[in-house]
Amino acid sequence: MTGILDGKKTARDIRAQLRERVHRCLGAGKRSPFLAVILVGNDPASRLYVGHKEKACREVGIASETYEFPEKTDEEQILKLVRKLNQDDTVDGILVQLPLPAHICRTRVISAIEACKDVDGLTPVNQGMLAMGLPSLRPCTPVGILELLRKYSIRLDGQLAAVIGRSHLVGSPLCRLLSLHNATVINIHRRSPSPESLCRQADIVIAAAGQRHLVTESWVREGAVVVDVGIHRTSDGHLTGDVDFSLVSKKTAWITPVPGGVGPMTIASLLSNCLMAFGERAEKDETQSPLK
Ligand code: GUN
Repeated sequence: MTGILDGKKTARDIRAQLRERVHRCLGAGKRSPFLAVILVGNDPASRLYVGHKEKACREVGIASETYEFPEKTDEEQILKLVRKLNQDDTVDGILVQLPLPAHICRTRVISAIEACKDVDGLTPVNQGMLAMGLPSLRPCTPVGILELLRKYSIRLDGQLAAVIGRSHLVGSPLCRLLSLHNATVINIHRRSPSPESLCRQADIVIAAAGQRHLVTESWVREGAVVVDVGIHRTSDGHLTGDVDFSLVSKKTAWITPVPGGVGPMTIASLLSNCLMAFGERAEKDETQSPLK
């Protein structure tokens, strides 16, 4: 019998703790943390995700505002807003929902965000800090996955982990985080030779390929832990992942469901990053105060 890594419940517990922290701050006379979200275009999935993020912010007492732009907006307009939000001391976190329309350079926009407000951990500064193993704001999905594994006491030290996918958002930072926790990491991607047999060696499999049901039972060894980052809508409206859950779960020790696995953990990490950005800024503000 496989165990379910319940991201929905774990994230709910984390939100409850974060809500208490926010309330303590408010009780001490501080303002609410503030997250600015930038959404460009009409991608329905992005709209849905941003809606989930806004709701989660409200639940824990983080104020948020979503700045919406039509698909055809030019890059300079987005950059102008990012620079304005960087300068605004009442803004703690800035998140640009991805993907951006093809005519906008994602690297230029993300790089324009101040590293201390980069709650997605995607700026070159924060990705570089993570690469060096230094404290920084770290990407939400990898952090959420590690937190979920920690909550279920799943050991990483000395384990062989296979990460499928190498995006800046998930695969690459996840490999680094796993390595910082002393796992040995195989990063499987489009050009890997024999991905299936590489994956079958792993104690922990994390699928972030963006390909529906890529991972079937022949990819996973008996007793493995499997984490599914994928999210795909089927023709009958259901959600499914990169892992064929019904087949793979017969072999696993632990597995995440879709939905209710990684998704809620990503949002919980975003909230946690917002509080970290808020805290760091509050400290900075105090040390910079002319009254000191
Ligand atoms: N699009 C899909 N996932 C994410 C995420 O975690 N952050 C941002 N900014 N965009 C996304």
